[in-house]
Amino acid sequence: INLTQDDLKRIAAYKAVEFVQSGMVLGLGTGSTAKHAVDRIGELLRQGKLENIVGIPTSKKTQEQALSLGIPLSDLDSHPVIDLSIDGADEVDPDLNLVKGRGGSLLREKMIEGASKKFVVIVDESKMVKHIGGSRLALPVEIVPFCWRFTAEKLRGLLEGYGCEANLRLGEKGKPFVTDNGNYIVDLVNVEKDMGDLGLVSDAILRLPGVVEHGMFLDMASTVIIAGELGVKIKNK
Ligand code: A5P
Repeated sequence: INLTQDDLKRIAAYKAVEFVQSGMVLGLGTGSTAKHAVDRIGELLRQGKLENIVGIPTSKKTQEQALSLGIPLSDLDSHPVIDLSIDGADEVDPDLNLVKGRGGSLLREKMIEGASKKFVVIVDESKMVKHIGGSRLALPVEIVPFCWRFTAEKLRGLLEGYGCEANLRLGEKGKPFVTDNGNYIVDLVNVEKDMGDLGLVSDAILRLPGVVEHGMFLDMASTVIIAGELGVKIKNK
């Protein structure tokens, strides 16, 4: 059989939901892969196979989806420690460092997944890369709208040595895309294959005033579930 990319996303998502146990506080990810996991959690709750789940959604979109499925929800203020988070990623490197945020939810994702005892990442095999932030995709950075050109230019300058462009992400009708937190996203593109010490790049980006957060999730994933044509692989940190 020929599996579509969406089939692979669903397979990875269902596998991750096998880690969910009744009574858990769960970080609910955002994106087309995580959506399958949230659907599955809703289904298992409905069937009575899971009970007493509290979901902490990483975006307004996931919040709506979870509400429509009847998943009880809360937030980090009430649940500062999360048992397990399940979410997709845009890129995963061999050390399980991630790029996230194509969907624009990186800030809430990083807050919630960083507060999780276990963070399970679900991807189809196309997301696996040697170096995150390579030329294939952009590295998203959430910035405040105030003088965004100034901040975008600082970001571009920071990564200039890597051949970087800094593009404001656009949404509907060519207007700036606005995150759930009322901020903008700058996509850093054409970053060369290897940014070197990712920790240093991360620190330098975060030091820029105007930057809220970036989409590199370094050393956060505990497990990555990779669905491919030939089956499912599980990599543990
Ligand atoms: C949302 O901001 C992102 O971090 C997503 O979790 C990530 O982009 C994966 O999305 P897909 O599963 O849709 O590829």
